[in-house]
Amino acid sequence: MSNTEQKVEKAIRKLQRDRIVVFRINALTRIGRDELMNIFARLFDEFQLNPALLFNLYSAVVEIIFNAIKANAKHVIFKSEVRLKLIRQKFDDIDDLLEIIFREEMLRDFMTRHIVPEKLKKRVNTVLQLTEKKRTGRTAGLSPRDMQLLAEFNQLLESEEVFIHFTMAMTDDKIVFNVVNDIPILAKDMDRIQQSRTTHRKLYDEGRSTDYFGPDYIDVTESAGFGIAMADEIYYEMGLDPLEHFTISASEGATRAVMHFPRAKFSL
Ligand SMILES: Nc1ncnc2c1ncn2[C@@H]1O[C@H](COP(=O)(O)OP(=O)(O)O)[C@@H](O)[C@H]1O
Ligand SMILES: [Mg+2]
Repeated sequence: MSNTEQKVEKAIRKLQRDRIVVFRINALTRIGRDELMNIFARLFDEFQLNPALLFNLYSAVVEIIFNAIKANAKHVIFKSEVRLKLIRQKFDDIDDLLEIIFREEMLRDFMTRHIVPEKLKKRVNTVLQLTEKKRTGRTAGLSPRDMQLLAEFNQLLESEEVFIHFTMAMTDDKIVFNVVNDIPILAKDMDRIQQSRTTHRKLYDEGRSTDYFGPDYIDVTESAGFGIAMADEIYYEMGLDPLEHFTISASEGATRAVMHFPRAKFSL
């Protein structure tokens, strides 16, 4: 059995025995996505779920895992930018100051005004692309500068101890996916998500939910908000209310995305 096959079998056995399986993730490169697809395929097979829904479900889950990965990357990079600012302004006790800023949501949100969003976004995208290249063995295309950026980023992840926990649970009537990252979502990001989901919902009620993906509704200012909208659309297609079955919330310094699916919707 290959390494992937072993991992898949282990996950499925765990799910059968305990009804729940937990994965700790810090990246989701092509290799990990393939593994996840294999787990989903086995899951559908083992529990006799309608294969027509396999790809939709997989895409939605990949999307929320990516969001968590991006959020963690954004957080550590944001924090390092804030640190730089404090150093430049010659503050003392930078570590203590940072601790206070990042403990208080208000202060943390306030600091976002002093960091250029475009620069932050660019740094996040760059390191995530570099991670993908490195982990899939395409190191030939990486310059010494790239390698240095990657090393710095990995060091940040390590010192901040950010992780993602991905849980799959299966009961007689439900399938639940839970993605938790131990950094709290920024209030303004949360507002943006809510607003975008409500707009999408309004369009759905008017019988034109797919218009949300057209030029009139794309918000390109910071993030398109497409990922969550795509996941919501999957719920709409299944005749389910995404605002009820799919929640994103922040508490105790963590962000949680939980997707519930009634098993009845998957029966053959
Ligand atoms: N797990 C999460 N933790 C923190 N922030 C999140 C999380 N998921 C989503 N977000 C926020 O919600 C925004 C919208 O997500 P999404 O619709 O997937 O768009 P995109 O991924 O293109 O930015 C993200 O830009 C991010 O700010
Ligand atoms: Mg996304």
